[in-house]
Amino acid sequence: MGRIRVLSDNVANKIAAGEVVERPASVVKELLENSLDAGSQSIRVEIENGGRRLIRIADDGCGMLRDDALLAFERHATSKLHDVKDLLSIATLGFRGEALPSIASVSRLLLETRAPEEQTGTRIEIAGGKILSCEEIARGGGTAISVRDLFFNVPARKKFLRSEQTELSHIASLVTHYSLAHPDKTFELWNGGANLLHATPVETMRERVFQVFGSQLLEDLIDLGLRERVLHIEEPDEPPRRFAIRGFVSRPQVQKNNRNSIFIFVNGRLIRDRLLLHALSAAYHNLMPAACFPFALLFLECDCEEVDVNVHPSKTEVRFRHQSWVHDFVRDAIREQLMQSRPAPSFSPNPQPAAQMPYSDFSQMMENQNAAAPTPEFAPEFVPEFAMAPPPAPAARFDFGDGGIPVNQPAPPPALKLRVPDTHGGFPLESIPIDHSMARIGELRPLGQLHNSFIIAAGTDGLWIIDQHVAHERILFEQVLAQQASGHVEVQQLLMPMILQLTADQQIEYARIADELHASGFDTEPFGNRTIAVKAAPAPVGLGDLERVILEILEIAENELRSVSLSDLRRGIAASIACRAAIKINTPLDHRKMEWMLRALAATEYPMACPHGRPVALQYGTRELLRAFHRI
Ligand SMILES: Nc1ncnc2c1ncn2[C@@H]1O[C@H](COP(=O)(O)OP(=O)(O)OP(=O)(O)O)[C@@H](O)[C@H]1O
Ligand SMILES: [Mg+2]
Repeated sequence: MGRIRVLSDNVANKIAAGEVVERPASVVKELLENSLDAGSQSIRVEIENGGRRLIRIADDGCGMLRDDALLAFERHATSKLHDVKDLLSIATLGFRGEALPSIASVSRLLLETRAPEEQTGTRIEIAGGKILSCEEIARGGGTAISVRDLFFNVPARKKFLRSEQTELSHIASLVTHYSLAHPDKTFELWNGGANLLHATPVETMRERVFQVFGSQLLEDLIDLGLRERVLHIEEPDEPPRRFAIRGFVSRPQVQKNNRNSIFIFVNGRLIRDRLLLHALSAAYHNLMPAACFPFALLFLECDCEEVDVNVHPSKTEVRFRHQSWVHDFVRDAIREQLMQSRPAPSFSPNPQPAAQMPYSDFSQMMENQNAAAPTPEFAPEFVPEFAMAPPPAPAARFDFGDGGIPVNQPAPPPALKLRVPDTHGGFPLESIPIDHSMARIGELRPLGQLHNSFIIAAGTDGLWIIDQHVAHERILFEQVLAQQASGHVEVQQLLMPMILQLTADQQIEYARIADELHASGFDTEPFGNRTIAVKAAPAPVGLGDLERVILEILEIAENELRSVSLSDLRRGIAASIACRAAIKINTPLDHRKMEWMLRALAATEYPMACPHGRPVALQYGTRELLRAFHRI
């Protein structure tokens, strides 16, 4: 009795069917998933000409029986699903019985397979969907499928294929990421005889990341470990559901300008999911500028009843039964881990791919802010790694003259790089620990202030430069959050209520978030048509800033946070208050105030970035200093 059956129309019609073969990478995805479903331990992918001439996948999985091998090319023939109720708990990657017939209809396909139950194997040749031959062959167990001349019979589709390099990079990314999802299996990728990936079985995902990406990327990443949470469903006879997430996310300093470095797997399936993408962004909220994205490799596991995979024709989207619960679980898991590792940006001598902005862009940025006039401390020569970048533009200077430092600096920070963990072999100051977190910020000794804007401090691990406004912003932000959470917000009563005129949109937002404003210390009430009276405000906000803060909060509520959670709204409010209330640059600070600032900063949960994601401090490590002075 074969394993594959043709689904009844009733079941087939309930499957989100559609185009599966869009490009070579989609063929690779389907074939890879079939090999994984077949329980393979080793998968070898060979490509020629970006997959257009040849895609060949060979595995050591369960193989196919002779009759099944023929049946596999019928539409809706699958071994993975039998009746409608199976659709509610799909545990395999495939379930539609569509991939092989679709691929076979647009290529010349050769299948060679043998199941352990049979003495001989089967070889089937198909071109453009027509079976050309089916014969017995001698071969070992497992399956090999070669797909040649993709779209040879659909010239219109062939025209739309991108360059060989583009198709190849899609395929390479796919195989690489599936290999990350299965560290215990062997994955090989060959392109025209050249080996692009050879990952042998390893124990942990961390080792696999090292195998495929190398140590450099690993240093930029935070390992989420295994994080679990149980969902208790308040319905009779519903057992608790266990969710688990593992994977890696980049430190907030690694900022990409698109989502191409985000890979999300749900129950072993690579998907694009807006809910989970949003959860990821929410985890970085206030740690990274809004238009930037991290690198992420997430593996979410849950009971298959909790996730519907039958929602998209190419199986690239899913729908969770308890959407917002899953969202918050993922966001919290990532955020907690981000909070635990609090690395400081530093000047590092090795440029890394993670660097956000090359020096040339940085200098351009400064130039655009009408900056001129050198200050020796900040001249590029001071920072060795800048020397590795393109030569600095001579006009890239700061102007600390009459106008002081431009106040409204754009969000992107200068070319910061992650600190490279360092060993100190043979180095005279070997005993000096270079701390890779900001834990030691509390031990910093302020040396003075630069241009009334930056605190210069000495630490056991080198020289630190702290942006006083951004540092204070972080301190206030966390204070406000803590007060919101405890329900004890420090407020100041206004002697005279302040009357604020709102636009119609602002009025709508106001009505929606009035309670939240109140919980954050703004005592307001409607006062006639489109007008509100403010009677009290959070203590840190100066009266001169009050109107701007409230309007800014209404704007945040309107723009970004409409659909998101209460906690995100609170964070938005706290960020606005902190930003307006923080001491400005171009403000002199005496020694006592600087000491207070550093101590308060050290006590924050996340001293490395302001709520908008700008860096708080830069560190010039002892080792870099010694190197710059040619002492090592
Ligand atoms: N590499 C393989 N090893 C063993 N059996 C395979 C392999 N590839 C395909 N099969 C068999 O062929 C059947 C049809 O494969 P096909 O990919 O068309 O459908 P599916 O995987 O069941 O569903 P989907 O269309 O969602 O991928 C599978 O159900 C499986 O039984
Ligand atoms: Mg399949």
